[in-house]
Amino acid sequence: MEEDIKAIVGKYFAPEEIENIGIFNGRVIVTLQNVAEDREKNTNLENEIKQIPGIQKVSVIYTAAKKTLPLKQEEGKWVVQGVKKIIAVASGKGGVGKSTTAVNLALALANHRQKIALFDADIYGPSIPTMLGYEGIAPISYDGKTFEAFDYASIKSMSIGTLIDRNTPLIWRGAKACGAIEQLLTEVNWGEIDIMVIDMPPGTGDIQITLSQKLNIDGAVIVSTPQDIALIDAVKGVNMFSRVNVPILGVIENMSYYVCPHCGARADIFGHAGAQQTAEKLGVPFLGEIPLHIDIRSNADNGTPIVMAEPESPFTKAYEDIAAKIIAELE
Ligand SMILES: Nc1ncnc2c1ncn2[C@@H]1O[C@H](COP(=O)(O)OP(=O)(O)O)[C@@H](O)[C@H]1O
Ligand SMILES: [Mg+2]
Repeated sequence: MEEDIKAIVGKYFAPEEIENIGIFNGRVIVTLQNVAEDREKNTNLENEIKQIPGIQKVSVIYTAAKKTLPLKQEEGKWVVQGVKKIIAVASGKGGVGKSTTAVNLALALANHRQKIALFDADIYGPSIPTMLGYEGIAPISYDGKTFEAFDYASIKSMSIGTLIDRNTPLIWRGAKACGAIEQLLTEVNWGEIDIMVIDMPPGTGDIQITLSQKLNIDGAVIVSTPQDIALIDAVKGVNMFSRVNVPILGVIENMSYYVCPHCGARADIFGHAGAQQTAEKLGVPFLGEIPLHIDIRSNADNGTPIVMAEPESPFTKAYEDIAAKIIAELE
């Protein structure tokens, strides 16, 4: 019934005009936003919905436009040579496993025969050099102008960490941080790349907004743990990308449940399926869940993320399934 009602409303109004469709006890309330009232359209819509068995009353409500209007488009996009598509891996807060997800997702995408680049833009805590095993190694340049991307594992990569000393905390603000990221992205010899995965700085501040506007991002993946507090931040992440017109590819639930390395038993220590419910509420795809498992952590710390270290494991399969969904969405 719900699908039928949605289909009817969809015939009359565009998706961005439909704020909500509420159905309870034979009563339907359609809330529209930013639409001029049209009596005739209303009557036709109401009559059509009333044809559905079990519906007694239909109301149409008009509301003003939401206050969060799209942000002004920034001039002068950054051009990343040789890269066909860019996806951003983002999170509302730090420590939810954004980098672990980004690196394993990049490797899983490469397993699907895509040419992949991974760019670590996390100025607050670049961790890709550690996760891919080249921490402390400086990038090389053959021509004195462009750096060569690191060619570790099956992907090309570069990290803002090659410019920052991990042990000397350096607070980069606004334009300086963005300038450094732009330089590193545009002055690297990437070769031919199908998809670039960007490990974004966590959060939804000015730097994240500027990056989202300056880069031609084809889609964003939001990583969240199942706790409410992380999910609230995940919603902020989804809203931020929507405001800068970056499509949301979906939400991944990381540390979804605990798998005991000894007996394989499962425990939902942070609750479970919260990210899926949040994705459904926001109307964005749910891409999948990754459990909390010691092998995922230890392999990332050792410079061989789980997709490399345990190619046959169910964890690798989970990342590959998510990668397949992303490839399908980008097409
Ligand atoms: N699914 C997981 N299972 C086990 N440990 C994980 C998992 N995801 C992330 N971790 C660990 O949690 C910590 C934070 O993850 P990280 O990817 O660095 O988060 P972020 O980039 O969001 O700050 C790291 O020590 C990482 O190895
Ligand atoms: Mg990180």
